[in-house]
Amino acid sequence: MDKKYPSIIAIDGPAASGKSTVGVLLAKKLDYLFFDTGNMYRAVTWAALKRLKRVDNEADVTHLAETVQIDVQPPSVEDGRLADVLVDGEDITWQIRSPEVDANVSQVSAYPGVRDAMTYQQRRIGNRGRVVMVGRDIGTVVLPDAELKIYLDASVEERARRRYEELVRRGETADYEKILKAMKKRDQIDSTRAVAPLRPASDAVQICSDRISAEQVVDQILRIAEKIA
Ligand code: DC
Repeated sequence: MDKKYPSIIAIDGPAASGKSTVGVLLAKKLDYLFFDTGNMYRAVTWAALKRLKRVDNEADVTHLAETVQIDVQPPSVEDGRLADVLVDGEDITWQIRSPEVDANVSQVSAYPGVRDAMTYQQRRIGNRGRVVMVGRDIGTVVLPDAELKIYLDASVEERARRRYEELVRRGETADYEKILKAMKKRDQIDSTRAVAPLRPASDAVQICSDRISAEQVVDQILRIAEKIA
């Protein structure tokens, strides 16, 4: 008999904790949609930097978030991307990974109006089911009824090392100490903001990925999923 799995799986956790790597592998195994909500906040941030030249005008950034067309689609190019991210039809998949977007995305994602606009779209996608959705507030706010909630964590040093290696792999210049400092700052903003701060849902299963591979994390999640389905 086929094994049964929960239809909605939420994975939350801090930057570079392995959510996307694990989420993609898990979604592939289950033949579910993988949806990384961080892409949406990054896309709004990129659009604000490009069109408004700044991100500190909350009303303007919120209006942009409400009107811009963000599309996240299966990858059309084999260049290591996990999805195509488009803003008003323009492919900005790699632009949203720039240090400039990294440095501004926490401020943009702390604006309540931006979160409302993104949450609305994420719920629409998530509630169709057969989805692995990853972010910061999926289990707590976006899909609080998800049958399985995972909170994936890792030490900040390990996460900075992963981000450093990711940039080097893409041929970009990277400075570990700078990345570590930026990561600590982003953690602080993400977990102390007034709306939907980063924190584990009370019913989330917490996993630390410091010394285990992504495949091992996926196996752990699958074992938990089989028990609760
Ligand atoms: O996972 P990531 O690094 O791509 O996320 C980028 C930023 O987006 C992160 O600093 C916080 C924000 N974010 C959020 O506030 N809520 C989510 N569900 C996903 C991301």
